[in-house]
Amino acid sequence: MTRESDDNPFLQGNFAPWRMEGDAPDLEVRGELPRELRGTFYRNGPNPAYEPLGRYHWFDGDGMIHAISLRDGRASYRNRWVQSRGLAEERTAGEATYRGLLEMRPTEAPRFKNTANTNIVWHAGKLLALVEAALPTALAPCTLETLGEWDFGGRLGTPMTAHPKIDPETGEMLFFGYSPFPPYLTYHVVDRSGALVRSEPIELAWPSMIHDFAVTKDSVVFILCPLVFSFERVAERGGVFSWEPERGTRLGVMPRSGGSGDVRWFETDASYVFHPLNAYEEDGRIVVDVARYGRFDFMSPGRERDPKWQGDASAHLHRWTIDLTGGGVGSTPLDDVSCEFPRADERRLGRKHRYGYAAVEPAPPSSMPGWRAIRRYDLEHGTFETRHFGVASGCGEPLFIPRTAGSAEDDGWVIVLVYDGTRDASDLHVLNAGDIAGEPVATVRLPHRVPYGFHGNWVPA
Ligand SMILES: [Fe+2]
Repeated sequence: MTRESDDNPFLQGNFAPWRMEGDAPDLEVRGELPRELRGTFYRNGPNPAYEPLGRYHWFDGDGMIHAISLRDGRASYRNRWVQSRGLAEERTAGEATYRGLLEMRPTEAPRFKNTANTNIVWHAGKLLALVEAALPTALAPCTLETLGEWDFGGRLGTPMTAHPKIDPETGEMLFFGYSPFPPYLTYHVVDRSGALVRSEPIELAWPSMIHDFAVTKDSVVFILCPLVFSFERVAERGGVFSWEPERGTRLGVMPRSGGSGDVRWFETDASYVFHPLNAYEEDGRIVVDVARYGRFDFMSPGRERDPKWQGDASAHLHRWTIDLTGGGVGSTPLDDVSCEFPRADERRLGRKHRYGYAAVEPAPPSSMPGWRAIRRYDLEHGTFETRHFGVASGCGEPLFIPRTAGSAEDDGWVIVLVYDGTRDASDLHVLNAGDIAGEPVATVRLPHRVPYGFHGNWVPA
């Protein structure tokens, strides 16, 4: 009998799970780690503990946290699974008991495992592992021990996006939860002390998978794409999402001081966006930079290898300019090279940014979300600089770390996890943000590979 892991590309190469938990003090460091880098880089990603039941999608795997701590020029590593209740049940059974996204059937009540596999954020003294279909999961920041689901003291009644936004001035954490059933979208605000102080349903034209959103100093921008939750023709289509481009894409702008009745919707061409880079308001316009897909047929990955889908199956850096007075959305491509995992300086969140970073240049096969390089964009001058990691390598999301809390937007480092196929292990590259193509400031050599994953964040010591 063929096992799913024999031919599913998301279970092979450096997408395959790393099924060991460990601690590694004093890693080998090449170059010199800056003394100012004191803290921990937490990276989350799917890492299925068991051979999947039926078809596997990259989004299904159990979350595993990889933590690399830097201090006084030294580096250490620790990794742990997020020990969800679902995983505990599977540990007892000794095999997978939950089915993945591609195996959901409308005739059965869905059993979701809170894999917490997508992102990991630090806010108000809590380290939260996140997946958009469920509550956050709190972890102990040093040991990575799973503390359990966190519902903000009983106040959070919806799932939480894996992409909350932490306002650099107010310290508030803004987020939303979405659902295939009404209310399709709920907006939440957690104050700087960690108290959930606002939850408000937002009316949507259709239920959709809403992965992320954008925030400015004064507004929230919801991104409604034509990837529609639909329980019709599931078997024929292969899943619960239907790509319906005739609906177009809508951007909902809500004043942060207002409410759901104040949301204004602006239309743009049909497209899908997982990740905005950042957004800001200027001269009566809201600028939203995003990694934009021309289409996204999420449930049928095989179609992305179909020639007629080529060209649209990957994302490109793109600028939407929402005209708040005249109406309408300007739509400008910013790069013709495929990218994902766009990031900006977190201190510029919601404020005008000049620089952005992204993983670029898909590694073959092009239908897989693997990347060979990172790019730093200077969006003021329309230029970029690229760092390549070699044909046997693949990288993930780049992350900017400022030198000090008050240093300039490009004064600091970019860190990125790179899989080195020649030694079948991963390295953390520390690059000078002002010269990412130059010699790395330091390279931390991990004892083994870290599977390609989703998102990470830096938490200063
Ligand atoms: Fe994401």
